[in-house]
Amino acid sequence: MKIKITNLSKAYKRGFNVLKDINLELESPSMIGLVGPNGAGKTTLMKLLVSQLLPSEGNIMIDGMELYKNEKYLKQRLGYLPQEFGLYEELTVYQFLDYMAALKGIKENRKDFIKKCIVITSLEDKQDIKIRTLSGGQKQRVGIAQALLSSPELFIVDEPTVGLDPEERIKFRNLFSKNASSKLVILSTHIIDDVESICNRLIVMSKGRILFDGTPSQLIKSAQGHVAKIELHSSSEELVEKNFKITSRVIVPNGLSYRIVGEDLPASSEFITPSLEDAYIYCIMEGDMA
Ligand SMILES: Nc1ncnc2c1ncn2[C@@H]1O[C@H](COP(=O)(O)OP(=O)(O)OP(=O)(O)O)[C@@H](O)[C@H]1O
Ligand SMILES: [Mg+2]
Repeated sequence: MKIKITNLSKAYKRGFNVLKDINLELESPSMIGLVGPNGAGKTTLMKLLVSQLLPSEGNIMIDGMELYKNEKYLKQRLGYLPQEFGLYEELTVYQFLDYMAALKGIKENRKDFIKKCIVITSLEDKQDIKIRTLSGGQKQRVGIAQALLSSPELFIVDEPTVGLDPEERIKFRNLFSKNASSKLVILSTHIIDDVESICNRLIVMSKGRILFDGTPSQLIKSAQGHVAKIELHSSSEELVEKNFKITSRVIVPNGLSYRIVGEDLPASSEFITPSLEDAYIYCIMEGDMA
């Protein structure tokens, strides 16, 4: 599968573009992490990709065809987990998945598909329970289960790991990465760990623009020389905060040890290898200054 996004802009209100001239090529097999601060435009981009919204300008091609004129082609290949997912609270897990499968037009082996998704998302003991009585994380799993129905070629998931406990999160990461071996998976997240462990490509967005598109290691490389450790008395913290982003602070015998990220770090600082999270923070800082 290949998706080509050209000069894409979106305004909800005339004159206020929340996506600004986005150009991207997305091709399977790939596992793409979409990250960025709240309001960056991640969900908007995903809604445009699943044709839930129409662009204000630009277009999207899917396998060489215009996406908005070939919705059926898209829908037959798409698994989508929206950020805000309305579940039918009065249905049981099984009834809900059966309903979603019907909407997706799955007729053959419907029961088998549903059972498989229930097992993958560890919902076996909840399948006959009403959705209303599930915990937040369990509801999230029902959302993931419906996106997996019919084993889609294109998998677009908006913050899928929100609310999952660590064990389930790791399980889902593995599930997504297994999927990516032949598919196109686009996942938005605020958990940099998720990206680090499974994505081969990372797209950083801020204020409707793409700040970075590349591999996680390329992003780390770009932050080299911009992350350091310094020890200071806590009274100097304000000065540090004014000039740099602090990504960690730990108490040490003579005060505090900070991990700082910034453009011009003091010459006396001890430079360290950036983590992906440091590199992400640096990328957003740079973007805000530009
Ligand atoms: N239905 C809407 N009507 C008007 N403005 C909207 C609408 N949906 C989103 N926006 C605005 O568009 C911008 C991008 O929002 P979007 O939901 O795409 O961000 P996001 O990157 O997904 O953020 P988050 O990390 O919080 O999920 C925000 O400024 C938001 O206020
Ligand atoms: Mg969002």
